[in-house]
Amino acid sequence: MRILLTGKNGQVGNELNKILPQFGEVIATGRNEMNLADPSQIRRVVQQVKPELIINAGAYTAVDKAESDQELAKAVNGIAPKILAEEAKNKDALLIHYSTDYSYNGEMNHRPYLESDSPAPNSVYGKTKLEGDQAIEKSGASHLIFRTGWVYSKRGESFLHTILTLAKEKKELRIVNDQTGTPTWCRSIAEATCKAINNILEKREDSLSKTVSNISGVYHMTCQGETNWHGFAQMILELSCPDNMPKLLAISTKEYPTPAIRPTYSVLSNSKLKKNFGIQLPHWEHALKQCLSDIS
Ligand SMILES: NC(=O)c1ccc[n+]([C@@H]2O[C@H](COP(=O)([O-])OP(=O)(O)OC[C@H]3O[C@@H](n4cnc5c(N)ncnc54)[C@H](OP(=O)(O)O)[C@@H]3O)[C@@H](O)[C@H]2O)c1
Repeated sequence: MRILLTGKNGQVGNELNKILPQFGEVIATGRNEMNLADPSQIRRVVQQVKPELIINAGAYTAVDKAESDQELAKAVNGIAPKILAEEAKNKDALLIHYSTDYSYNGEMNHRPYLESDSPAPNSVYGKTKLEGDQAIEKSGASHLIFRTGWVYSKRGESFLHTILTLAKEKKELRIVNDQTGTPTWCRSIAEATCKAINNILEKREDSLSKTVSNISGVYHMTCQGETNWHGFAQMILELSCPDNMPKLLAISTKEYPTPAIRPTYSVLSNSKLKKNFGIQLPHWEHALKQCLSDIS
C-alpha cells in the first residue's frame, strides 16, 4: 500500500515515519515537499502519489502564536484537512487525521470528555483545528480523526523538552497547577495509530477506505490517567534529575497569563477507541518513564 504522510518532522509525524514502512511504501512529506498552506500543491502531491492511505500529522501547533497568526493557522489546520479529505474522497483513500483536546472549552467538571460532547474551543488554535475536523466529517471521505492532547517528545518544542532544558538552567521553576489533562507521548500515538491500521487490515474486505466507511469519526486517543502541568513537571524532574531537582512552585493560570486561553480540564475518555479497535494507550506515567529511558 502507498501511504502519504504529512508533518514528517513533527513529534507524531517523526514517530510515524519510523514505523509505517511495515505497511508499505511511505511517501513522507514536510513543509518543503508539500506546503499545507498551499491548496493547489496539496492536490498536486496527492494526485501524483495516489495513496491508499493519507495520514495528516502536520498542523499549525503554536497555540499562543496562532492568536495573532489566524490566517496561517486557519490555512494549515482548517483548510488543508478539507483539501486532503476531498482528495481522499476522489481517490477512494482513507484519511487519518489528528485533532486536539483544545477543541473543548474545559468546563466539564465531573467526567472525562466523550466524543459526543460538544466541542467549544476557546483559542484560535482550537477553533481552526475544529474547522479541519468538521470539514473532514462533511467531506464524505472515509476518515479516522484521533483527538489527542498534551503531546510531548524529547525533541522539538514540547513541555518535556522545555522542563529538561530549564532544569539545567534554573534553581526554581514556577508551573501552573490548575489545568488538568493527560500527557501523551508521541510514540504512544504512533503505535496506537499502527494498531488501528492493523485492525482495519485484518477486517479488510475491499479497499481500506470502504472497510472504514461505517466506523469513520472522531476517536479520543490519549495516554491514561490525568495530572496538571505542575504534576507532569514534578514527575519529569523526579525521573530525570532526582538528586539535582530545581525547586518546583505551583502557580495558577492567572499568575502565568498567555495569549491563548487553554481549557481548565481536558481529560478525554478513550472508551470508544477501546470498544471499536481494542486499543488502549499506556498510563501517562508509564509512557513518560519509557520516553525518558529511550535512547533512540
Ligand atoms: N503538540 C500537542 O501538544 C498536541 C496536542 C493535541 C493535539 N495535537 C495534534 O497532534 C498532531 C501532531 O502534532 P505534533 O505535536 O506532532 O505537532 P508538531 O510537532 O508541531 O508537528 C507539526 C508538523 O507540521 C508541520 N507544518 C506546520 N505548518 C506546515 C505547513 N504550512 N506545511 C507543511 N507542514 C507544516 C511542521 O513543520 P515544521 O517542522 O517545518 O515546522 C511540523 O513538522 C497535530 O494535528 C496537532 O494538532 C498536538
